[in-house]
This record gives sequence, structure tokens and C-alpha cells, in this order.
Amino acid sequence: MIGVFDSGFGGLTILGSLLQTLPQYDYLFLADSARAPYGARSADVIGRFTLEAVEWLFDQGCVVVVLACNTASARALRNIQQLHLPAHRSDRRVLGVVRPSVEALAGLPPGAIPGETQPSDAVDVVAVLGTESTIASDSYGIELRKLAPGIELIQQSCPLWVPLVEAGELGGVGTEYFLRQALDPVLFRPHPPRRLLLGCTHYPLLLPAIRHIVPKEIEILSQGEIVSSRFANWLERHRDFETRLSRGGARRFATTDDPEWFAARGERLLGQRLRAEHVRLRELETEIG
Ligand code: DGL
Repeated sequence: MIGVFDSGFGGLTILGSLLQTLPQYDYLFLADSARAPYGARSADVIGRFTLEAVEWLFDQGCVVVVLACNTASARALRNIQQLHLPAHRSDRRVLGVVRPSVEALAGLPPGAIPGETQPSDAVDVVAVLGTESTIASDSYGIELRKLAPGIELIQQSCPLWVPLVEAGELGGVGTEYFLRQALDPVLFRPHPPRRLLLGCTHYPLLLPAIRHIVPKEIEILSQGEIVSSRFANWLERHRDFETRLSRGGARRFATTDDPEWFAARGERLLGQRLRAEHVRLRELETEIG
């Protein structure tokens, strides 16, 4: 199976695109709703929670896990890839959303090699919006400096946007106030960005309200299509993993909180009926926590 992990239900915005692009595979989606949001948590805690989720997905038979969550990708992925997998799970892979998103922001092809591939179109300034922890990690900055050092990156945290989405406040005067509070410093500057990435699984739900504020000439990128098309490309380049994926049309959903609450939100987001199961994640004493 392909495992897809998010701190909450927002990751279904990524899963929806994966299901459209790669419907042939079996999927297991896990939301750690009981401990979400992750966005204001420390790197240590996010590292531990993410590893517990990834290990649960491995135990269920996932060969490849996609961290749909930006905060988990920013804070936990590197340690999992560099320390945990080589020591304990060398036959599995965990991929995140930061690298493919940076490639798209910079106009680079999938799997671009630092220093070897030039951006195909000239963008000079781009921006990413994310949770406090994602922005504090500077993961987007680190990746962009590696892949396209000539491009300036504006990074803006939007601490209140996830709570707005969780509360179902997707528009209206109150929401617009908080959207503008984060967007104004990005838009009102001598060199505004040409592209703006919604670097959090919840933000696509605010897209109509964001589009209303952001000038037309600025392209807004959501991650669903970026991640699914670049993941498809990754599978083409990694046949040894692709051939191990099962193809039975399975779609399983698991949450660490109330499955009915999750299913109700998930159905609205995915536009299909779904049943979720409740799971408890095993606590891990980890050297990389
Ligand atoms: N899933 C998180 C992300 O993409 C947002 C929600 C949270 O803060 O946990 O960054």
C-alpha cells in the first residue's frame, strides 16, 4: 500500500489528487487528529509524533509513505530518511512535500539535481505560506537555495489559518481580516512574488478567499497536483518500489480521534462516502525524537 500521513484531515486535499493521478494503487490514509494541529509544536515533538505515525503505517504494510503534512515534512523527514530508515527500515521509503513544492515554485522538473538543472522560466521572487513550525524550520529556504539559489523566497507564517479551517470559517469578514494580516506583508513590498505556494494541507480550503485578495498576476500553487504528479514521476524512477505496491482499489482511512468526526469532514473534502477506523499509535522511545 501507499501510506499517506497528515496531522489532520487537511491531507485529504493531497490524497484526493493522488487518487485521481494514480488510482490503480491501494492507499492507507492516517490522520493524527487527536494531536493536531502540529503547526505550533516543537521540532522534537513533531519528530516523535511523525515517526510513530510512519511506523504504524509500515506495520500495516505500507512500502512507501508520503508525508502530506508540511510541518511533518519540514521537521521530521530528514531525520527519518537519514537515521531511521537506514538503521531500521531500509526496505521502505518516506517522501515529503517540501522538495516537490520547491521544484514547482522554481519551475524545475521533477527530481531536479542541485546545480545541474536550470529553472525553465525566469521567476525572481516566490513566496511560501505555512505554519509557524514549517516557516521556523526554513526547510523551504534550504531546499530553494540548493536547487535555485538565484530565486528570492519570502516565507510567511499564518498561525491562525489552520484554526479558521478547523472551525469551518472559510470566508466572511472575520476570515478576510486574518487572511490579509498574513498576506499583506507578502504582497505589499517593492518586489512582490510571482508565485505563491500554499504550504499547508489546510490552506487549499481557503483558496477562494485567498484568490479574492491576491492580485491576478500572482500565480497561486496548491500542493495536491504538484505532489501527485511528482510522486508519479518518482515511482517511474523507482521501479523497485513501484512493483511492490498492491493494486486492489483499497482506500483505508484511520484517525487517532473520533472516526465519525473525521469521516464527516473527509466526505465533504473528497466528495465520496468513507468509513474511518480509530487507531492508537504506539509510543516510541526514539533516538531521533
Ligand atoms: N497538516 C499541517 C501542514 O500541512 C497543518 C495542520 C497542523 O498544523 O497540524 O502543515
